[in-house]
Amino acid sequence: MQSTTHAGFGLGLRRQHYETVLSENPELDWFEILTENYLVDGGKPLHYLDRIRASYPMVMHGVSLSIGSTDPLNMDYLRQVKQLAQRIEPHWISDHLCWTGVDGFNMHDLLPIPYTEAALRHIVERVQRVQDYLGRQILLENVSSYFEYSQSEIPEWEFVAAVAQQSDSLILLDINNIYVSAFNHGFDPHTYLRAIPVDRVRQFHLAGHLNLGTHIIDTHDHPVIGPVWDLYREALRHFGPVATMIERDDQIPPLDELLLELQTARELERSYLQSTQQGARQHTGQNMALAQQAMRP
Ligand SMILES: [Fe+2]
Repeated sequence: MQSTTHAGFGLGLRRQHYETVLSENPELDWFEILTENYLVDGGKPLHYLDRIRASYPMVMHGVSLSIGSTDPLNMDYLRQVKQLAQRIEPHWISDHLCWTGVDGFNMHDLLPIPYTEAALRHIVERVQRVQDYLGRQILLENVSSYFEYSQSEIPEWEFVAAVAQQSDSLILLDINNIYVSAFNHGFDPHTYLRAIPVDRVRQFHLAGHLNLGTHIIDTHDHPVIGPVWDLYREALRHFGPVATMIERDDQIPPLDELLLELQTARELERSYLQSTQQGARQHTGQNMALAQQAMRP
């Protein structure tokens, strides 16, 4: 296990892999669970959860917080989240910077927020209340999107950063979502990365998607593509090592396939670290040469 600021490499826990995980004990630092799958008392999901938790740390990832909605916070849901957190003691709890419905109607979609000053104030206040209730900081993930609001007055990357800084929350940065939204809306993904404060990012998501030529649909049913790996390299240079996982939600392959994909992330981080050590050695060497030069009579 690495430090709490870099918990290592994980995978989303999927029911198709329960038995394999228990019998093969794959080399993983943690599993991310989909919170909503474990909120019902009793039954198979909780049975497997407890058994797998005995061997692996976990992080909780929810889809129902709807932090951007104008509906009141769902305190019943939050009470269940808190209970589950007491049960599995996750490294952290995350959800999405989005809204999923209004007037009690759930659209079961992670919808983007109009990036306005009013929305920012509204969300910051809600995040603070959620964190007070849960007694911990939460992570909010940047979502992929297919439309924007004409009312938006702040670039998405500045909005994501401002929510974290003003509410003292953390960020789950989905590298694939940045790539998808950059493609769909025509912005530069590097501008996005560079605008996110380094000290707020606690986790990366990597995933695959479906490119239809005119737009990308964020299907999470394919392996991570080359340009997203390139963006991950860029993220490593900007943020340094951060806990990373592969997110596959559909067409779930055998666990080995996902472990292999995760190995690519590990290797990219290793080569990033090697390059920085080399850089540091070169830097020290240059400094020593300069010092020797200066000492010459
Ligand atoms: Fe994600």
